[in-house]
Amino acid sequence: MPIGVFDSGVGGLTVMREIMSQLPGENILYLGDTARVPYGTRSPETVIRYSVENTQFFISKGIKLLVVACNTSSSVSLEVLRERFPIPVIGVVEPGARAAVSGTKLKRVAVIGTETTINSRSYERAIRAIDVSISVSGIACPLFVPIIEEGWLEGEVVALTAEKYLSSIRNNGADILVLGCTHYPMIKDVIAKVAGISLIDSAIETAKEVKGVLAERNILRQGKEPGEREFFVTDAPEKFSRTGERFLGQKILNISKISLGV
Ligand code: DGL
Repeated sequence: MPIGVFDSGVGGLTVMREIMSQLPGENILYLGDTARVPYGTRSPETVIRYSVENTQFFISKGIKLLVVACNTSSSVSLEVLRERFPIPVIGVVEPGARAAVSGTKLKRVAVIGTETTINSRSYERAIRAIDVSISVSGIACPLFVPIIEEGWLEGEVVALTAEKYLSSIRNNGADILVLGCTHYPMIKDVIAKVAGISLIDSAIETAKEVKGVLAERNILRQGKEPGEREFFVTDAPEKFSRTGERFLGQKILNISKISLGV
């Protein structure tokens, strides 16, 4: 059975890329809810509804494990998905939070993400559930997503935006910055330069967690041949593959358009 990975759009391909690199033999289905992106500006109730519909689609396809690659959805809908569906559900917040806890020496962590992720305080809860002495500050950076999707991964627009959002981090005493949004690994270098502290990439941490859970449950795919990949989108496949190839780092073939929640 395949692993199902969903996101609001192309961003979750940064997570899929890491899963493919750590688990090259696994079959993966990816769903990008491109008709309803962005999730990061929507209310938790709406994001939960979309996330349930995305998961129902995967259940109808038959998956052995679900990865919620979207930070916004992981922040607000994980409990509901875990309650409602009988498969292991892995989000990106807990793995990122664990890495932040082991990385911070000064016990101060900064998190950046969409408005809904930051307002949910999901990373703060996950970090302080492990170590209550750590203080966590969040900064919403809503302009990063459209800038990155535009392909402006370097140059003055992204540099100035990063400066505006992140310069305060240099003085707030944090020694770890969590990239709490699917898109941010694409501009890691710009962010690292402005913030000047160590970064945690939730995508890498999540792929490690997926590997661990599959191994623990003894459901890793056997055999040596490379896994198969199939993509589903809720809006135009052409646009998804054009932008998505930058995120995935390879060609996107095998895409189908589906309808959800109408
Ligand atoms: N995938 C979203 C996240 O990681 C970013 C894009 C959106 O707002 O939908 O939070």
